[in-house]
Amino acid sequence: MSEMQKPSGGAGGVRGDSDDAGRPAVGSSAASRPGSQGEGAAGGAGRGDPSSAAVELRGVRKAYVEPDGSVLPVLDIERFVLARGEQVVLLGASGCGKTTLLNVISGITSADAGQVRVDGVDLARLPEAARDRFRADRIGMVFQTFNLLPAFTALENVLLGMSFSGRRADVREARRLLERVGLGRRLEHRPGQLSVGEQQRVAVARALVKRPAVLLADEPTASVDVANQQRILDLLRDVCREHDVALLLVTHSPEVAAQFERVERLESFNRAVAPAGATR
Ligand SMILES: Nc1ncnc2c1ncn2[C@@H]1O[C@H](COP(=O)(O)OP(=O)(O)OP(=O)(O)O)[C@@H](O)[C@H]1O
Ligand SMILES: [Mg+2]
Repeated sequence: MSEMQKPSGGAGGVRGDSDDAGRPAVGSSAASRPGSQGEGAAGGAGRGDPSSAAVELRGVRKAYVEPDGSVLPVLDIERFVLARGEQVVLLGASGCGKTTLLNVISGITSADAGQVRVDGVDLARLPEAARDRFRADRIGMVFQTFNLLPAFTALENVLLGMSFSGRRADVREARRLLERVGLGRRLEHRPGQLSVGEQQRVAVARALVKRPAVLLADEPTASVDVANQQRILDLLRDVCREHDVALLLVTHSPEVAAQFERVERLESFNRAVAPAGATR
């Protein structure tokens, strides 16, 4: 039994068979049921199979080719499951592969081997255009580097998060989210006119506005003060709860991690060899 399948509680543990709300068990047969592809979601028209997990990885491996031609194994994960609506913190030393894992889950980076299912859909089986549509529709991302479009205002950046997903632009909802992250008076500012922490908060609002099946947040509170850290965290968790969005959040902050019921260390379920020079 891998580390990821052991039921336990608390920090460093793995969730048990079901959560308080009775959502599908981690590693349940429903989550891995053959044929639960939910391909309809790929076109952005609907949701995936409701009985499937939000994220399920099996036998996933990913390596990078180094500039000198050598191969750097970064991920080797037997199994990882994120249930629908579940909220999980991912910890790990710098360079251990956290961002790579989020990129593999989102399909931005292809796994070299194994299966990645999001909302019941096997990403590798989707043609590239459908995979891009699926990501825009069903996966929210808060990147470590924010990736805001510099020519657009804060409000427009949030609205773009909606329009890429095929949802009708809802200016009121976009404003409401920006107000909730304390940017009600920064709606018309462009990223270059915002502080780094403010840009980070725009990125959070942009990821939430389309109500994805899963939200992947890469250190979303790294650039803000403690008050705003809590505000971002509360917003992420509340909106995810309200709309049954699964949340996988990378952080280096013990204060952030302490608030989550399930905390995973990537090193504990990633069998890839430690990259040389990584600060583990
Ligand atoms: N495109 C790439 N080509 C080659 N190596 C890469 C590439 N992207 C990442 N790496 C290497 O893969 C390893 C994992 O990188 P990754 O960005 O996933 O780490 P991380 O856990 O997110 O680190 P941090 O906490 O610093 O953000 C690192 O050693 C990194 O140098
Ligand atoms: Mg990273």
